[in-house]
Order: sequence, then structure tokens, then C-alpha cells
Amino acid sequence: MTTMESLIGLVNRIQRACTVLGDYGGGDNTFSSLWEALPSVAVVGGQSSGKSSVLESIVGRDFLPRGSGIVTRRPLVLQLHKTDEGSQEYAEFLHLPKRRFTDFVADSGCMDCSSSVNFEFGTYFFCGPGAVRNEIQEETDRITGKTKQISPVPIHLSIYSPNVVNLTLIDLPGLTKVAIEGQPETIVDDIETMVRSYVEKPNCIILAISPANQDIATSDAMKLAREVDPSGDRTFGVLTKLDLMDKGTNALDVLEGRSYRLQQPWVGIVNRSQADINKNVDMIVARRKEREYFATSPDYGHLASKMGSEYLAKLLSQHLESVIRSRIPSITSSINKTIDELESEMDHLGRPIALDAGAQLYTVLEVCRAFERIFKEHLDGGRPGGDR
Ligand code: GDP
Ligand code: NA
Ligand code: MG
Repeated sequence: MTTMESLIGLVNRIQRACTVLGDYGGGDNTFSSLWEALPSVAVVGGQSSGKSSVLESIVGRDFLPRGSGIVTRRPLVLQLHKTDEGSQEYAEFLHLPKRRFTDFVADSGCMDCSSSVNFEFGTYFFCGPGAVRNEIQEETDRITGKTKQISPVPIHLSIYSPNVVNLTLIDLPGLTKVAIEGQPETIVDDIETMVRSYVEKPNCIILAISPANQDIATSDAMKLAREVDPSGDRTFGVLTKLDLMDKGTNALDVLEGRSYRLQQPWVGIVNRSQADINKNVDMIVARRKEREYFATSPDYGHLASKMGSEYLAKLLSQHLESVIRSRIPSITSSINKTIDELESEMDHLGRPIALDAGAQLYTVLEVCRAFERIFKEHLDGGRPGGDR
């Protein structure tokens, strides 16, 4: 190993191991203290505030299910892994470890899952255009049924690409004020409870999305963020739809921190409009248009270098990395505690138990042991290989 695996990559692997064991952000499980020790970034906002658009912009790809109503009904843990320049971009779900989704740009269904290639670890199946979007939808329905219910069990999606920054983002259902036709009355509270269970954790970085064409005082995202993070230490305010503001108005009071003070900088965004989406304006073009918008804007020109989705992605990645670095001691102690618990659980499992459960515990135990060593190396001054 010539370069050390990124800290974000390491944390990603522990998060995946936790999910395999049935532990996740919103849950209250055996090892939820381990999950809670891991910093993450959760995307919060009202419905149609632009959450999905921001995520797609950060990834530079069009891959999320869309539509009206509550499209996101399970948390999506989106892990971005930066790979070497020129390497093939692909996506992989935790629940489908042998399928590589190599083309997730176009909008049609999964055309052909039949082509396969042998890799070192087995056979991978390649899926055609639109398949990532379909799989998110189908995997959502697998747990919630075709109802409009929500579930706190996350879907894990990894994207490997030279064009992303190392970052993990959790997409959550949009906050809403009223139940619509076909939804249970409790949906409004259920969504808020689920979102809150993620953002109230002190290690959760909140990406709070508000549309610029609505009064910030009415923003669902800021209301919840203020409640769980009153000092604004771990909240990044994102203002979407700057292009949709009334002529003659601008958002400088918000973007320059006068309306709503946060410890982190506000970032303004211009995503694709619905008309752009209908015309299939691709993400690369959209990013370029966004850059041009800020560079040429009479209102925001002086802020241009600190606006837009590419800047937001870099800012978040750097912040997440530095938060993880500062938490290494507590992550390590949480991992050690988990190792102890797992070892005693394994001892109790002397008699034949469900093979699966035993194997999973063992995997997590191994992962934890490996991390304990690697984190120590990071702590010892960032040299791989430990003491020499
Ligand atoms: P979500 O429900 O929060 O995930 O919101 P979406 O990302 O699905 O966006 C809702 C609608 O607002 C879509 O039609 C988007 O095209 C549109 N939209 C989002 N952000 C912007 C923006 O910055 N400018 C414009 N003009 N439209 C936007
Ligand atoms: Na929506
Ligand atoms: Mg959405």
C-alpha cells in the first residue's frame, strides 16, 4: 500500500459493516454507539427544496429517482470514492455486491444485465442505463411495499469515479407539512422523527437545503437545524434556486451570514430547472452553466469562487475529513468497545448458531480489528505501516 486509504474511505467501510449487522443511524441497536461515533453528512430539507438536485450535482451524475410526492422513502447512504484519473466509473449497492452499474446516465430501464466479466473476486454483472435509479426505487419498495410508507433501513450506494471527491452523504426523506392522498396521517411526524434521529447525533454534519425563492424564516431545514444544532457549529446552509428569485431581489443577506448566522459558510447553488431536466440537459453542462451564472452575476460575482455545487463538494469533503481526524481517539475507543462486545458475543455463540449471523459477526470483528490498527497509524502521524 503506497498511499494510505482515505480516512473517509475507512469510515465508509465501518458504516457498511454496521449496516450488515442491522445497525444504522436511525436505529437503536447493539452497536449503535459505534455508528454514532462515525461522522456523516445528512441532507435535510423540505420537499422540492432541491435536495436530489444538489446530490446529483455533487456526484456529477443523474441517478436519483424523481417525481412528485415523497420519492425518498428510505435513507440513501451515498458513499463517493475518488479513483485514479481515467478509470471506469461505476456504482455498486451493498445489497448487490456482485453487480457493477457502469452506465447510470440515461433514463431508460435496465436494458441488459446479462453481460458479465470475471474479476479477481468473482463474476460481476454490468447493468445498463438508468439501472441505478431503478434499483433504488425497487429496493425502496422491497422494504416499504408499494405503499407510500417510509422505512429507516438505509440503502447503501457506492460510486467509484475519478470525478468525485471522497465524501459520504445521507439522503433523507423530505420534510413535509401535510399528508397527501394515500398517505397515512402520521407521515408528517414519521418523516420528521426519522430525519431528527439522524441529525440530532452530535457527529452528524447537517447539510440544510433551503430554496432562495422562499422566505428563509419559513425553511423546514433551518427550523430543524436550529433545534438540534443551536450554535450552528455543524450546519452547512445551502441556498438553492437563486435563479428563481424575484427580479430586483437577491440573497446576499443570507449568503453573507447576516440573516441567519452559522459557524460554517453558506453556499448558493443553481441546479437544473425542471425545463432543463425535461430537455435532458446533462450534468456537465449544468455545472458549467452554474459556474457562468455566478461568474457573471452582478449580485454574486464577488462570491463566485465560494459558490456552486463543485465548491460545496470540496468544502464538505475537507470538513468531513478534518472532523474524522479530530475524532480518531473516540472512534478508536468505540471500535475497541465493539471488539470487546463482539468477542464476548462470539464466546456465547459456542453452540451452533445461525451460520449467517456468526459469519457476519466475525466479518465485523475482523473489520474492526483492522481499523483499530489503521486508525492508530493515522493518529501516529499519518504514516502507513505503523512504527518504524
Ligand atoms: P427535492 O424534492 O428536495 O429532492 O427537490 P428536487 O431536487 O427534486 O427539485 C425539485 C424541483 O425544483 C425540480 O423540478 C428541480 O428541477 C427544481 N430545482 C431544484 N433546484 C433548482 C434550482 O437551483 N433552480 C431551478 N430553476 N430549479 C431548481
Ligand atoms: Na421531491
Ligand atoms: Mg428528492
